[in-house]
Amino acid sequence: MDRVELLKQQAGVDACKFVTNGMKVGLGTGSTVRYTVMELGRRIAEEGLEIVGVPTSLATEQLANKVGIPLVELSDCSHLDIVIDGADEFDENFNLIKGGGAALLREKIVAQESNSMVVVADERKMVKTLGAFPLPIEITPFSYQATIRQLTKLLDCRVNCRMSGDNPVVTDNGNYIADAHCGPTLTEPVELEPRILAIAGVVQVGLFNNMCDVVILAKDSGVETMVNPNGRLIT
Ligand code: 5RP
Repeated sequence: MDRVELLKQQAGVDACKFVTNGMKVGLGTGSTVRYTVMELGRRIAEEGLEIVGVPTSLATEQLANKVGIPLVELSDCSHLDIVIDGADEFDENFNLIKGGGAALLREKIVAQESNSMVVVADERKMVKTLGAFPLPIEITPFSYQATIRQLTKLLDCRVNCRMSGDNPVVTDNGNYIADAHCGPTLTEPVELEPRILAIAGVVQVGLFNNMCDVVILAKDSGVETMVNPNGRLIT
């Protein structure tokens, strides 16, 4: 296992310390939280952990089924106790860019239903200012070039439709993803989010503001639990 993969594994597994019997757990998407899902499956099988999960993507649903995590519909839950998910970037205010894996809409719906959000990340994801990672924005397929033009005008940067070969990437919800190459300029993500959401054709944006309570950060020197001082406390 290479260095980065090892860090992802350390973060993903360490986050499971927040999961206890009886919890309803949002299961994020990506190569870091994959290790969380596998570890939760192991604890269910080997330690009798009793939880139910809500996956944030079809890929995570498949993995959760494979490792034996019982799944429930979010609609049938009054709330979730916790969601554990990855991030593409997080800043010093614990605001996030997500959507590198094109799952941002379901991830945000699950996060907003959760009493707490734990992010698993390696040290490459920690930034002073968001935006070096292209900001993912889920948009409708209908006249998507027009939506991209609106986004380009608002953000004043290059905005591409994410492609897979010759075709746009299609999300689990049947939409497309626009990636906005803003550069590390997003100093006011809280103000920016509603302006992006106001564009017709935008379904959701990968800015997760004021949602993350804890980051489990894996570094070469060890795993650090970073608690958001303005977040909801996890005991
Ligand atoms: C998917 C996401 C992922 O959580 C994010 O892209 C981080 O993934 P990884 O752990 O593979 O770097 O937002 O939509």
